[in-house]
Amino acid sequence: MAGDPLQTRLCEEYGCEVPIVAFAHTRDVIVAVTNAGGIGILGGTGMAPDKLRSEIAWIRERVGDRPFGVDLLVPASFVEGNREDLESMIPQEHRDFVESLHTDNDIPKPKPIQAQGASISSPNLLQGAREALDVLLEERVPIFASGLGSPAFVLEEAHEVGTKVWGLVGLPRQARRQVEAGVDVIVAQGYDSGGHSGTVGTFTLVPEVVEMAEGTDTLVLAAGGVSNGKHLAGALAMGAAGVWTGTIWLATHESETQMFIKQRLVEAQAEDAVQSRATSGKPIRQLRSKWSDAWKADGAPEPLQMPLQGMLVGEVQRGIREARMEDWMTTPAGQSVVGVHEMKPAAEVVFDMVEEAQDHFEQLTGEPVGA
Ligand SMILES: Cc1cc2nc3c(=O)[nH]c(=O)nc-3n(C[C@H](O)[C@H](O)[C@H](O)COP(=O)(O)O)c2cc1C
Repeated sequence: MAGDPLQTRLCEEYGCEVPIVAFAHTRDVIVAVTNAGGIGILGGTGMAPDKLRSEIAWIRERVGDRPFGVDLLVPASFVEGNREDLESMIPQEHRDFVESLHTDNDIPKPKPIQAQGASISSPNLLQGAREALDVLLEERVPIFASGLGSPAFVLEEAHEVGTKVWGLVGLPRQARRQVEAGVDVIVAQGYDSGGHSGTVGTFTLVPEVVEMAEGTDTLVLAAGGVSNGKHLAGALAMGAAGVWTGTIWLATHESETQMFIKQRLVEAQAEDAVQSRATSGKPIRQLRSKWSDAWKADGAPEPLQMPLQGMLVGEVQRGIREARMEDWMTTPAGQSVVGVHEMKPAAEVVFDMVEEAQDHFEQLTGEPVGA
């Protein structure tokens, strides 16, 4: 039997059994995927430090020494300043537009919020990310993954406590900087991916980043559009050490995503996952909704930069959620949503993907794989 193509350097170096990484905001998904042999990465942006600490402890209790991580958004381009200065940068035209969203669509004003961690709609996102990062390092979480900016600044500090540093990139030049800095894993995230996404497709980006990382200690994961075993096999064939996935976990049994959104995910086609800057100021691929449509309609202003856009729309979005205006509610989701056919346990998603990838390799090579 030929060597098992699913046993990649990711498996060797991190001790996972299969090269599948799951990004999710629900801790139960992280535990399920990690215990099924993959690696779960918890989305930690927006969590207050104490909450993050208790989530890490909860996960650790259930996965033991298996590898898991936490992802934080640390954007590189960000308008900085105190809340007052930033508020004064929001044009009246934008405030009027948001006010008209409230009045024209009966979106109620939300209740005042309690203290929470810095989210993509807060002016202190960077400070919040730094506080959360301190928690990760104190807790010696096995993996810190950085969405948006380069995590090079924390490499030394993280390695001292045994935390591996991963960076998400959407462009070859971002990847080059991170390879040069010695980041442990680069997640090459294509245009089709859910959440913040760039302009270069996965099929174009991944081989280019793999070439850049050749001969270095940096591993590359493919992200964006991955929903089945053929994608996994394709990613490995392109030289990636595994796949990083987001959308496929949203409709799993363990996911805390609301049921009507899960249903919408099951029914959605690839083209229903649209990019919009309306929520954070950076392009987020998400399920199309009245929210994304409103910002693309004639007369709508161009969304502002991060964090101004998030500050502008934070309240109206809370109003939408509190009133549970389903047509206006959405979730980040990638074109891979077309591969979400049913709600099932997260472990089953892992096993199905592995089985399909093995079958695919067997068909290609005529040799048995794994077993
Ligand atoms: C609901 C959702 C929320 C996301 N939030 C983040 C985030 O907070 N930080 C981050 O680095 N990536 C985030 N992403 C992007 C994922 O990490 C991942 O790169 C992406 O989902 C991969 O593409 P796929 O959705 O086609 O699998 C999010 C994705 C989804 C679907």
